[in-house]
Amino acid sequence: MNRVGLEVPVKGMIFTELLDLADHLAGEEAVDKLLDDLDLDSDAAYTSVGNYPCSELVQIMTALGAQSGVSCDEVQREFGHWVLGIFTDRYPHFVKDKHTAFDLLEVIETEVHAEVRKLYPDAELPTFRTRRLGPDRMEMHYHSERPLRSFCHGLIEACLQRYGVTGQVRIAQDNGASDTVFDIQLER
Ligand code: HEM
Repeated sequence: MNRVGLEVPVKGMIFTELLDLADHLAGEEAVDKLLDDLDLDSDAAYTSVGNYPCSELVQIMTALGAQSGVSCDEVQREFGHWVLGIFTDRYPHFVKDKHTAFDLLEVIETEVHAEVRKLYPDAELPTFRTRRLGPDRMEMHYHSERPLRSFCHGLIEACLQRYGVTGQVRIAQDNGASDTVFDIQLER
């Protein structure tokens, strides 16, 4: 499969989570209006098991950001924080034996998303390669068919927070929003 872009589908549960975050930030009434104005092909009738084009995700995030004067990238990042909280509550066994943020980030590809794939065989997940550069430093290479690196950025930041560590998550190599190397440096 050699597609990159906004037509690539995203699992419905990501959409339903985005609408929950939107309700939380802007209130249900404002969100209904925002969705009406966008006039989406799906009519925003998302179910968690369906698949919908990434373009709709980006349209909703862009419109949400415009309401509060922030960019789509900033909304994606905040959404990453939101989703990590929800997913770790919903799937505690995925994170149970992971004692540090790096332990968890290292197994997103091989364990966490591998389990997601078993639950949802039609899920289209990104690929990750990680490399420890020292006890407090790790490189994480995100590669996807969808341009969601800012969402990924937020998820990584949220992993650090979850384990009570602070640090910098920097874009070390920018090959576009679908292919990015993050440099994660923890503070001691
Ligand atoms: C308990 C933890 C997690 C669960 C259950 C989970 C599950 C999922 C699911 C269901 C999707 C949607 C797949 C689709 O659209 O078909 C997804 C997408 C994604 N996940 Fe995870 N995930 C988890 C943790 C993480 C973490 C920690 C990261 C970051 C390092 C991450 C990075 C991503 C990204 C960036 C996407 C968007 C799709 C893309 O960019 O191609 N996930 N994940």
